[in-house]
Amino acid sequence: MSHTGPDRRAFLTAAAAAAVSASGLPARVAAEPARVPYGAAVNHYVMPSDGLYRDAIARNCDVVVAEGCMKWAYIRPERDVFKFELGDGLVDFARQNGLKVRGHTLAWCEANPAWMKSLISVTDAERLLVEHIEKTVSHYETSISSWDVVNEPIAEKPVSRTHLRPGVWHDLLGPKYIDLAFRTAHRVAPSQQRVINEYGIESTTRQDRAKRAAFSTLIHDLKDRGVPISAVGIQAHLNAANEIDKDGIAKFCLDMKLLGLDVLITELDVNDYTLAADEDERDRMVAACADDFLGAVFSACRPALVCTWGLTDRYTWMPTWFKRRDGKPNRPLPLDAALKPKPLMGVITKYCRPT
Ligand code: XIL
Repeated sequence: MSHTGPDRRAFLTAAAAAAVSASGLPARVAAEPARVPYGAAVNHYVMPSDGLYRDAIARNCDVVVAEGCMKWAYIRPERDVFKFELGDGLVDFARQNGLKVRGHTLAWCEANPAWMKSLISVTDAERLLVEHIEKTVSHYETSISSWDVVNEPIAEKPVSRTHLRPGVWHDLLGPKYIDLAFRTAHRVAPSQQRVINEYGIESTTRQDRAKRAAFSTLIHDLKDRGVPISAVGIQAHLNAANEIDKDGIAKFCLDMKLLGLDVLITELDVNDYTLAADEDERDRMVAACADDFLGAVFSACRPALVCTWGLTDRYTWMPTWFKRRDGKPNRPLPLDAALKPKPLMGVITKYCRPT
């Protein structure tokens, strides 16, 4: 059994063995430690050609989420065309390997097709959003049980507690686009988990604190209005150079729990682009940053999922935005580029698979 990574199969085998007593009769698995599912975002471009990557996903994850292929830009290349093939491929892979699938995402200001710029009327926007959610959630009704319904609703640098992020849905429909998205998803699949997902709320920077306050205000307002949200996603694109606001995160998670909402860590990775070059030192700092963050979360609640945005440094979105000046590859994820576990995997194991 792997001691470095949350090896799913090894765990299941051990649990099954423990369930049979010496007499051969099933016994209660009383000593089974509490597990939190671990997942990773999957890159659909490289899945078909990289077998070792596929194996690593199957071996390490309980849950997968599409890094790109369930966003509007992929599902709606044309206004009247729905393309589910790429997403269906991920669902098939998950089914073959006994993994669950999360959906990402139904309403976001980014990753939308170019033709959407021609959307100008309120009625049109409303009709389109509802139609998209109805068709997409129905298509995946039996294969996806948790959706990021609204992604990144809060302004990047909020100047008030009610400052929402501009974008196609907000600009045309105002804040009610959020209600509409959740109510529609709920109508189509009432028993699914519906998540509101946000980034940039984890550190002690003034901006992160302002965003966390605005996110919290929005969630309270949605609950007050009876909007059917069931969970809160903390993306957790952390920056190793920033201090985690441990108290602030713990209070936020506790508050969400008291509201009756689940908390999910949806996109964890740790930005190392300003750290010194030494790889061991970087890996240690990346792991310590995640440890601070997860420690704060787990001190307040038991998250329904810990998901990283990618599994291996071989494939990470990080250099698109945060390329290191020394030209060295970023190391933000639990496995290195050779698929070997790094200290970050040890941290995830510590919280998700306590022994
Ligand atoms: C990113 C993908 O990882 C990139 O490959 C893509 O170019 C842009 O989007 N928050 C989100 C994710 O909710 O959808 C983003 O994914 C990363 C930030």
